[in-house]
Amino acid sequence: CQNTYMSKVFITRKIPDTGLRLLQKNHLEYDLYDSDLPIPREELLASLQKPYDALLCTLSEKIDAELLDTCPSLKIVANFAVGYDNINVAECSQRNIAVSNTPDVLSEATADQAIMLILAVARRVIEGHQMVQNDWQGWAPTQLLGQDITGKTLGIIGLGRIGQEVAKRAKGFNMNIIYHNRSRNTELEESLGVSYTDLDTLCQTSDVISIHCPATPETRHLINETRLQQMKPNAILVNTARGNIIHEEALIKALKEKWIYGAGLDVFEFEPRVTEDLKTLPNVVLAPHLGSATQGTRDAMIMLAVNAIVAVLSGKSAANILNPEVLKING
Ligand code: GLV
Repeated sequence: CQNTYMSKVFITRKIPDTGLRLLQKNHLEYDLYDSDLPIPREELLASLQKPYDALLCTLSEKIDAELLDTCPSLKIVANFAVGYDNINVAECSQRNIAVSNTPDVLSEATADQAIMLILAVARRVIEGHQMVQNDWQGWAPTQLLGQDITGKTLGIIGLGRIGQEVAKRAKGFNMNIIYHNRSRNTELEESLGVSYTDLDTLCQTSDVISIHCPATPETRHLINETRLQQMKPNAILVNTARGNIIHEEALIKALKEKWIYGAGLDVFEFEPRVTEDLKTLPNVVLAPHLGSATQGTRDAMIMLAVNAIVAVLSGKSAANILNPEVLKING
């Protein structure tokens, strides 16, 4: 039978071209908020007055009941991110709207970013760069001495897909790896050569701490003033997960008062706002949320997002649907 109705997708941000081509190839129409800046909330709500079938959004958009009520025709919300703390999945499920994310394809790139930040803090790369840019007088035996990473203890908070990739990389530095996670995984402990510990012990004994857990009500301010005080004075804290897992005000205090050696941050509690003090401290390395920001990874992410949309709009499921129970699959 001939069906002239074309499914329509609303895309909240400029996305890699591969995504647009894949939508066209699958005969999906789309409207795009063609900007690198987030769509203002009011504009998003106004745009969603039209009967879209799918919403392709980023972590900047809050997908809540108010938004979902604006667009009752939605069948899927595809998040262009692995973290989905911006989406109220329960509200989506209640309305039989599928939700997808972009797992696996960004694990390596994000782990690379974490390792890069660890080394950048340990070896004072920003200070060195600034020294060369300014008035460098040449090599000196005591100039900008950093810290060794080899043989040190790495504490991984959240041994999921990204945390595991960090562990593999850290093995290359002969690091002793401990982890804390909601649940223990003895098989992984065996295969990766890592050992489980409670969070307090992890904070007290690690030379490097890297955060890889999701943002949930339970992990908000997991790293607070008390935990920062437990850390070693040589500790390097790295966050490539979500900003609010660290209490940013407490971290600034810890960095100023040198409770820890330094921090590498790819994410911020009040993103995109960055607390002013962080911008002037010498012992931090800041990155603008670039964990998955390689061409190859972003292309793979958009493919996952678009393929989930295509699957759901043709009555199928996909591996990256977070609430597959809402899909009534017709065999
Ligand atoms: C990025 O932050 C993501 O969750 O993919």
